[in-house]
Parts: sequence; C-alpha cells; structure tokens
Amino acid sequence: MTAQRVFDLVIAANRLPVDRVVGDDGSSEWHRSPGGLVTAMDSVMRHREGAWVGWAGETGEAPEPFEDAGMWLHPVPLSEDERETFYEGFSNDTLWPIYHDVIVPAHFHREWWRSYRTVNERFADAVCEVAAPGAKVWIHDYQLQLVPAMVRERRPDVRIGWFNHIPFPPVELFAQLPWRSRILEGLLGADYLGFQRTPDAQNFLRACRQLDGRTTKGDLVSTQDPDGTGRRVRASAVPISVDYHGLEELARTESVRERARAIRASLGDPEVVMLGVDRLDYTKGIRHRLKAYEELLADGTISSPEVTFIQVATPSRERVAAYQHLRTEVETVVGHINGAYSAIGAPAVHYLHQSYPREEMAALFQAADIMLVTPLRDGMNLVAKEYVTCRHDDGGALVLSEFTGASHELRQAFVCNPHDIEGLKQVMLHVISLPAKDKRRAMRALRRRVADNDVQRWADTFLTNLETAPERPSRPTTK
Ligand code: ADP
Ligand code: G6P
Repeated sequence: MTAQRVFDLVIAANRLPVDRVVGDDGSSEWHRSPGGLVTAMDSVMRHREGAWVGWAGETGEAPEPFEDAGMWLHPVPLSEDERETFYEGFSNDTLWPIYHDVIVPAHFHREWWRSYRTVNERFADAVCEVAAPGAKVWIHDYQLQLVPAMVRERRPDVRIGWFNHIPFPPVELFAQLPWRSRILEGLLGADYLGFQRTPDAQNFLRACRQLDGRTTKGDLVSTQDPDGTGRRVRASAVPISVDYHGLEELARTESVRERARAIRASLGDPEVVMLGVDRLDYTKGIRHRLKAYEELLADGTISSPEVTFIQVATPSRERVAAYQHLRTEVETVVGHINGAYSAIGAPAVHYLHQSYPREEMAALFQAADIMLVTPLRDGMNLVAKEYVTCRHDDGGALVLSEFTGASHELRQAFVCNPHDIEGLKQVMLHVISLPAKDKRRAMRALRRRVADNDVQRWADTFLTNLETAPERPSRPTTK
C-alpha cells in the first residue's frame, strides 16, 4: 500500500505519459504514450512538482501510483467494457468526429454516454485524492469534459482549469450531441477554459448562448452552481506549443545530425525528400497528400526516386472501425504507388507504421526537404512546430494545411487546402522549385515564432489565466 501524497498542482488527462504494455509472458514494460497532449504535458510537468492522473493504457486493475521523472503518476483503471464504451466509443467515435467537422460519421449510443459519465466520476475522485487544499487542478481534453463540475462539487476549495487540445466545433455540429447541455454544464464547473484558437473559444461561448440561453459578456459566461451560487467562467485561446529549447538542443547533437545524413544516404540521396508524420488518423489528410504525390508522379511532373516520400504513421485507436478502414485505404494506396512508380531498392513511398524515439524523429525532420502537414482539421498540430524547431540549419520547408491551429501562428509556412488536390500539387511543385534563399527566409521567421511561444510559455500563460480568472462569485443569475 503506497502512502497517499497530495500536490498543489494536479493534472488529469485520459492518458498518463507512459503506457504499460504487458507481453504474452506476463512481463510488463512502460512505453511513452502517443499523441501531442503527452508530448506537451510531459515537458511541462518535468519542470514542475505535481501529480498526473490518467489511464495507463491497459484494462483491468490499475498499477499502484508511482514516481517517474520527478512526476507523481496516479493511474486510473478502465475495464475492458469501459475501454470500448468510454474510450473507443464515446470519446473517439462520438466526440472526436463531432469535434473534427464530422469527417467520418459520429455514432451516438446511450450506454457509451453512461460509461463516459462513470469514468469521468472516477477521474474526479482520483483528482480529489491527490489535490492538496487550494490546489490547482488542470484537466485536459475532450475525454474529461464532465470532470470540472464533478471536482467542483467534491472540492470547492480547489481552482479548476480545463484545456481542449482539439478544436471546439461550431454550434451546428455540437448541437447534434444529445448530451450537449450536460457537457456544457460539466465544463462550466471550471474557473477557466482554454482553447487552441479564438474561434474555438467563440464556438464554445456561442454554444452556451444559443443552446442553453446562458449570458456571455466578452470571454465570460455566467453560470450557477447547484447550490445557487452565481459564477463567471472565462473561456479564451492559449495556443499550445513544443519544448523548443529541449528539442532544438537534441536536434543539434552530432549523433542526430549524423543519423539525418545516414537516413538520406540510405534513401540513395534523393534530390528531394518529402515527409509526413502523423498518428494514423482520418483527420490528418494522409490520403490527400498521397493522392497529390501519386498524381505528380503519374503526370510526369516529378519522378521517383529523385523525389522520395516517407510517411510515418503511428498506430492509433486500432479497434475503431473508421481507423481500420483508413489503414486499409492508406496501405492500399501506398502499395499501388509503389507498384507503379518504384525501382528495385528504391520505393517511391517509404511507409512506416511504427513509433520511434525522439532522437529518430529529430533526425527524420532534419533529413526532410519538405514537411507535408495536411490535416483536414487539427486543433494545433505539434509536428509542424517540431519540424521547424529541428531545422537549426534554417533548411527545409513546411507545407501546412489552413485547417490546423498551427497555420494561425505559422504564417510563413506554405499554406495549402488539402481538399484541393490540384492546389496541393501546385504548392508541392512551388516549394520544390523555390530558390533556397526564399525557403531559408521563411524558415527563419517560423523558427522565431515557435521560439517565442514555446510550451513553457504556454503553460505559464494557462496557469496565470487560471489564477486570475474571476474569483468573486457574482450574484445568482436567472436564466
Ligand atoms: P496528435 O496529438 O493528434 O497526434 P500532434 O501533431 O499535435 O498530433 O502530436 C503528435 C505527437 O506525436 C508529436 O509530438 C509527434 O512527434 C509524435 N509522433 C507522431 N508520430 C510518431 C511516431 N511514429 N513515433 C514517435 N512519435 C511520433
Ligand atoms: C490527441 C488527443 C489526445 C490523445 C492523443 C492520442 O493528441 O488530443 O487526448 O491522447 O491524440 O490518442 P489516444 O487515443 O491514443 O490517446
């Protein structure tokens, strides 16, 4: 039995920064968890003392709380049924599609909602166990939208913030959710709500007004707690970022630079290396960029292996049908392109369905002349910022979808609309033929931008906003 420790800063996210992977022989190993939330919050928490409440990625009994890299990790269990209904179901087959423009249809099931509520209660209990009196509680993402109100009910002494790593949908899409008012109530249990972009915060404020008739003024929403106390909740944009200094330092090491050269050499030193790095997710526009590449090869505008494409696609949510279809489609297209355009020993597309250590990612970024970031919708897209960070040589070029949060900051990127395949091809060709000095100028500006707003600054801003969010209750409001 581990003694209960309490902390002044507690974060809650569906995933812990590490996943427990149990082998067939019953032995277990810890791997880094996938996704941008973990990348960002791992760097934030390494510099602060606090607890991280989250799921360890395996079903059944949760491991005992433990310390890792200075963080106190407090695992929350999920049963096999909850993995299907809460995680794969409500979080990733209801909310994820609704919050990403319904690129695939969303599915609504009442038992998924019930499970979402149950698991959110469990997270709220776990947060309250490790939160010291008056602690700051920072809740993350769409999987835990009911936790703010649940924590407030249990622990009125703590300060509660929530940050959405993904977009917040327009009211017309959010309105489809049968449980929309319950979700808004859950979120309004917080003192401060952070979003990636101002339009996301505005979508939230509009949903409060139009769907629930709440009063908003500027970025404040008026709400009433179950005991009748009136409060105001602030909702605004705080765009997330990457650990610029840590990652840049890693990218500058001789071993990473050497590895970048080795990657290019193993490809046969092509004239142009194009790179895509994503979780294998339908929001990322992987099929669109493959189609553009295939058409450029087909019409003879470019040829392989002179222009080679590497697509790294991390396995993700592999038991959800939409992800299984995507994988089949992507792998079929890759097979088709390679069948038609590869030479022996020189595939046109190098497709890697694997996860890599940070060093290897940094080397891949340095080896790529053109980074293709083409999501159909993405809250931010940290890969775009990581690529820029790793280009300490001011080399390379970033092609960036206008439907990413990152495109609102990274103005000097080569912007594309991934739905417009013809336009995407033109952007790719433009970047291939652009003089190096023009690309360097763009890269320098991008790097300055990311250096100025790195992940520590993002976390400081969020926590300051949380501290300064309206403190005194306003008079009870009438709806
Ligand atoms: P998302 O959070 O939707 O997955 P982001 O682009 O914001 O998208 O973040 C993805 C994170 O996962 C980045 O830190 C990126 O470096 C990392 N990543 C993506 N693919 C891989 C991979 N194959 N191996 C290791 N890390 C990866
Ligand atoms: C995105 C989400 C995170 C999630 C990650 C990986 O970054 O915003 O909340 O953890 O994807 O997805 P997964 O379903 O594997 O946790």
